[in-house]
Amino acid sequence: MKFSILFVIFIIFQLFTTFNSFTINSYYYETNLNAIGKVYRCRTTNFPTSSGIFVTKITGQHESEKNNNDVEAIGIDGNYTLSFVPRNFSFFFPFLRAMTIWYSSIEILYGDEFDEFDYFDYISIQHSYLKTISSRLFESSPQMVHVWFANNMIERVGYDLFTPLDISLLEFVGFGNNACINQDITDGNQTAITSLINELQQNCPFDDNFSILTSTSSLSTPTDDNLTCPNRGIINIVCDLKDSLIEIQENLSTKDERVDSFSILLGENLTEADEKTNEKLSKSNGKIDELKTKLRQLNEKLQVKHEKIVTLKSEFEERLMRLEEVLLNSATNCFILKFTLLVCFVLILKFL
Ligand SMILES: *[C@@H]1O[C@H](CO)[C@@H](O)[C@H](O)[C@H]1NC(C)=O
Ligand SMILES: *[C@@H]1O[C@H](CO)[C@@H](O)[C@H](O)[C@H]1NC(C)=O
Ligand SMILES: *[C@@H]1O[C@H](CO)[C@@H](O)[C@H](O)[C@H]1NC(C)=O
Ligand SMILES: *[C@@H]1O[C@H](CO)[C@@H](O)[C@H](O)[C@H]1NC(C)=O
Ligand SMILES: *[C@@H]1O[C@H](CO)[C@@H](O)[C@H](O)[C@H]1NC(C)=O
Ligand SMILES: *[C@@H]1O[C@H](CO)[C@@H](O)[C@H](O)[C@H]1NC(C)=O
Ligand SMILES: *[C@@H]1O[C@H](CO)[C@@H](O)[C@H](O)[C@H]1NC(C)=O
Repeated sequence: MKFSILFVIFIIFQLFTTFNSFTINSYYYETNLNAIGKVYRCRTTNFPTSSGIFVTKITGQHESEKNNNDVEAIGIDGNYTLSFVPRNFSFFFPFLRAMTIWYSSIEILYGDEFDEFDYFDYISIQHSYLKTISSRLFESSPQMVHVWFANNMIERVGYDLFTPLDISLLEFVGFGNNACINQDITDGNQTAITSLINELQQNCPFDDNFSILTSTSSLSTPTDDNLTCPNRGIINIVCDLKDSLIEIQENLSTKDERVDSFSILLGENLTEADEKTNEKLSKSNGKIDELKTKLRQLNEKLQVKHEKIVTLKSEFEERLMRLEEVLLNSATNCFILKFTLLVCFVLILKFL
């Protein structure tokens, strides 16, 4: 499931690499930004209606004696239609450190949006539809001093968003007026920042260690400036797909939790069953013991009876022998008697 969707995203990316370029119109001026002070800024005057996520042309007149290398900040008005952070600004402004995007329809920051910048330390995305921020967003810019995402719809923030950052450098941290958090810090109070980070991890938890948020920067270079196509539609599809990937991930972790609680339940039932079996076993063991005792008693009785029988038998035999003797004796006696009688008879006959 996961991989098939990733594959579809891959195919769509392959498709729209053909169209991904656009031009923005702009003007340049000096301004003051919180935490970093005076900067020379490029400000867009239109939201580009052409397609693509890679800026390939920036129009507009520099102030005198200024050039692209002086541009440290860019400000974009997304007109509620810009659904991604435009890429390739570093091609034009190699020293860009600050980006402000207001009124965009950006919902997800995938994490690699600012990787192209070497000196990035200021971000402000406000009054947009931002819901999800990847843990990887600041991996390549550990020197952030200004992280401002107030006035969005933030629901989930990667656990490790602040891990690469030096808390002591942070001065402005804004998460006010969002779905899962409402807190702004404007004085660099480290205790307050740490508690804000804890609050994010508790109230906006998002474990994006599994690379569900696929980056868009792996796209190849654009080909044709002139092409217009409903590319934003494609990007929306990509975003939808990513949203459903996040949903799948959430569903998976819910299922994991269910499996966990099920196995805990099952474990309880098992131990319960074990206990019952043990009880039964010990009960039947008791019965077996009882039976054994009875058997032993029976055996003993049998033994006694057997002994008695043996005794009786021998007594009987003895008696029989005696009887035989007696009989024999009496037979002998009888014979003697008979013989005597015979002799007497013979003598009587002779006598007569
Ligand atoms: C802003 O978007 C509206 C439509 O939503 C459009 O009519 C208008 O021209 C856009 N403005 C700019 C500066 O692109
Ligand atoms: C950035 O813009 C320049 C100028 O149009 C272009 O040559 C380059 O290919 C672009 N880079 C990317 C990654 O699109
Ligand atoms: C920093 O923030 C903590 C917690 O919000 C607060 O108790 C403390 O007074 C703050 N310190 C300063 C110097 O404002
Ligand atoms: C994400 O992975 C990193 C490095 O493997 C680890 O330090 C971090 O604790 C993990 N984050 C979460 C939320 O599991
Ligand atoms: C882009 O548009 C310009 C002016 O409309 C035209 O001269 C040029 O040939 C076009 N480029 C391509 C590659 O179609
Ligand atoms: C996530 O779960 C909900 C409710 O269980 C379901 O309606 C939704 O279709 C699931 N989403 C995906 C992408 O599987
Ligand atoms: C645990 O046992 C109870 C009743 O003994 C039963 O209602 C419940 O479904 C069992 N749970 C599992 C996870 O087997």
